[in-house]
Amino acid sequence: MNDTQQEDFGPLTDLIGVWKGKDGVDIAPEPDGTETNPYFETITFEAVGGVTNAEAQDLMVVFYRQIVRRKSDNDVFHDETGYWMWDAKSQTVMHSLTIPRAVCVLAGGQYTGKKDADGRTVLEVSAAIDDDNWKIVQSPFMRDNASTTAFTHTLTVGNDTLSYAETTMLEIYGKTFEHTDANDLVRA
Ligand code: HEM
Repeated sequence: MNDTQQEDFGPLTDLIGVWKGKDGVDIAPEPDGTETNPYFETITFEAVGGVTNAEAQDLMVVFYRQIVRRKSDNDVFHDETGYWMWDAKSQTVMHSLTIPRAVCVLAGGQYTGKKDADGRTVLEVSAAIDDDNWKIVQSPFMRDNASTTAFTHTLTVGNDTLSYAETTMLEIYGKTFEHTDANDLVRA
């Protein structure tokens, strides 16, 4: 890892820090339909620094950990970790994540400099099992019983606020299910 000082995290810069959100809504699959779970969470983003691949690709890397608790009982019901990576040369944002269901995602997207109406940075990444570049890896059990087939994630950050909306497409209980999560967070 290179020195993080003087280095430019590009569109990931504003992520670094600790964020708290109390208005999350999770839509999750149940055998007989849908479960809606209001939640609160803490997401911590830490600067890792620069990484060089094959002496040719320079990435700037941010590590994160997301701990999500169900409002009804305060129990942790989603625990996620991974990295956000910025390749300035190709203007690509990458998001790797792993969840303790034996599912991993490497999502990616082009950063176009997009901002929302409030001037916040908009990051858009996606992955799919049949995509050539950005893929999903899962255990044999999950592949056969609760397969993640696609993932899209839009994260908007700036002005000490962070919002995200993500959709995980699942093949579960004999049907296709749109598992969604969204929240608005503020810098702690
Ligand atoms: C804030 C984010 C998330 C929350 C709060 C959340 C919550 C949940 C909940 C409550 C269930 C139902 C569990 C059950 O019925 O026992 C579920 C299922 C599932 N989630 Fe998530 N999830 C989140 C994000 C994700 C992401 C990012 C992925 C993968 C990319 C994912 C993959 C799955 C899978 C594969 C299942 C099916 C397993 C099952 O229902 O037995 N989830 N999630």
